[in-house]
Amino acid sequence: MTKPQIWVAATLVLFFALYILEMSTKRTDEQVKPNPTTAMQQQNPQVSADQPPEKLVVNLGCTGCHGGDLSGTAMAPSLHAVKDNWSRDGLINYLRNPSSYMSSSRFEELKSKYPNTMMPSFSNIDVKVLGKVADYLISLSK
Ligand code: HEC
Repeated sequence: MTKPQIWVAATLVLFFALYILEMSTKRTDEQVKPNPTTAMQQQNPQVSADQPPEKLVVNLGCTGCHGGDLSGTAMAPSLHAVKDNWSRDGLINYLRNPSSYMSSSRFEELKSKYPNTMMPSFSNIDVKVLGKVADYLISLSK
């Protein structure tokens, strides 16, 4: 090959390499981009309003903090007397936005009792599901 031929060949190889590189990065971009619907479903894999409430409190993770029978653990208080403090609607609101209740004196006390855990917000859960959970919690109160 003559010198100019080598230059032409080298330039072609370079363009080809860049083209391959661009194609491969494009493909990984698409693969990495999360699909929002899938992400939501993954967060709450098996929750629907036709499940029994005993199953909902497990699938939503309530039992993970409040205990298998919801009678309280070192991480979170018992839920066996919520009727003393909550109406059904109040409970649904609380589950959707627990932080808005934090300034009440009852919650100041709960916060200091369970300093390392915080009640998470369940605002992304269907209100029908939360209503079912609220009914269930109220039914646990004697
Ligand atoms: C990460 C642990 C955690 C999870 C999961 C959790 N909680 Fe809680 N929950 C708490 C803590 C801690 C408190 C006490 C308030 C605070 O410190 O935020 C609380 C408080 C509550 C209260 C108020 C109790 C009272 O005496 O007024 C209710 C009702 C409640 N949780 C219900 C639920 C339900 C229903 C679920 C599932 C949908 C759930 N929690 C999931 C930790 C948790």
